Amino acid sequence: MKHRIQIEGGDGFDVSADEDSLLRGALRAGVGFPYECGVGGCGNCRFDLVSGEMETLWPEAPGLSERERKRGKRLACQSRPLGDCVVRVRCADEYRPVVPTRRLQAVLTERREVAPGMAELTFTAPGPATFLPGQYAVFHPPGVEGPRAYSMSNLPNANGEWRFVVRRMPGGKGSNAMFDALAPGDALTIDGPYGNAYLREDNEREVVCVGGGSGVGPVVSVARAALKLGREKGVHIFEGARTRADLCVPALLTEREMAALNYIPVLSSEPEDSGWSGARGFVHAQVEQSLQLPVEHHEFYFAGPPPMIEAMQDLLVMRWKAPHAQIHFDKFF
Ligand SMILES: Cc1cc2nc3c(=O)[nH]c(=O)nc-3n(C[C@H](O)[C@H](O)[C@H](O)COP(=O)(O)OP(=O)(O)OC[C@H]3O[C@@H](n4cnc5c(N)ncnc54)[C@H](O)[C@@H]3O)c2cc1C
Ligand code: FES
Repeated sequence: MKHRIQIEGGDGFDVSADEDSLLRGALRAGVGFPYECGVGGCGNCRFDLVSGEMETLWPEAPGLSERERKRGKRLACQSRPLGDCVVRVRCADEYRPVVPTRRLQAVLTERREVAPGMAELTFTAPGPATFLPGQYAVFHPPGVEGPRAYSMSNLPNANGEWRFVVRRMPGGKGSNAMFDALAPGDALTIDGPYGNAYLREDNEREVVCVGGGSGVGPVVSVARAALKLGREKGVHIFEGARTRADLCVPALLTEREMAALNYIPVLSSEPEDSGWSGARGFVHAQVEQSLQLPVEHHEFYFAGPPPMIEAMQDLLVMRWKAPHAQIHFDKFF
């Protein structure tokens, strides 16, 4: 069964009744519905329900303020149509999926520790793994309410291999389930790809990748793809971690890839007497110190915790006045 969704003053589309959210149904129908995180954190998928009925999946989702909720605003990633509906939202081509999104039955084939509390999980699913480097997928970790987003750390491939770098968050339900409730051989539905922070191939600018904590997953994928395109001279990875033991980019890339790019690890809590002679402090401050301007020569990709993303945005937008079209990021809500 399908529900018809009509955008006020715009196009209409069908959402399958078994679809888990309006947003995913819209994107699967090829509609440019605005979004960013896909899991209730950012608020970009806000819309008004003009008529019809929708179920709210996570009423407390932080993407809406109490005031917005009272004014009747809804999040498309947290709304499930229960029948035909009319909605008010401004769609845009930039959100239209470049690679069609699909739901795949995958099997966990390997979990490899890449740093303490950080693992690379490999899933295998039927058919080729089609996504753009830098994109993410959405899962329902076993026994946990609500979906979680994880970014692909590998490259699209014909073998149906999907890799993700997952950090065990202290007290986090979903990330801990990915370690404790899932064993090699277990099945999981992967839904994706989603996200707009993917490698842009239409320019020759130097590629600057900045990953904090588990944010290394998507930036490693972007850097790898840029190297494959032959941009050896201009691929930089800045990795922000607490200590030397937490660095994981060298465990994710081959020696050849490491030799071909400019890798700058930055440690925020490494003991003073440890003998570490590399960069210290916050990763965005090191980007500011290390990069040769002008900013027009660089395309920026970054992922990680919200404070790191906000510091990078402040540097790039407020201080360096970098054009928005050169900035691509995912905030890990
Ligand atoms: C685009 C994107 C890409 C990401 N990529 C990665 C990655 O590659 N590696 C990585 O380690 N992390 C990634 N994250 C973060 C990841 O999705 C989780 O937020 C993180 O693992 C912590 O989840 P948790 O369940 O352990 O923590 P929790 O504190 O239990 O949950 C954190 C998040 O789960 C969601 N959530 C919580 N409760 C509910 C509910 N009842 N219903 C619906 N949703 C709920 C919310 O989004 C919340 O912010 C990414 C996040 C985003 C948005
Ligand atoms: S996409 Fe819905 S809140 Fe982020």
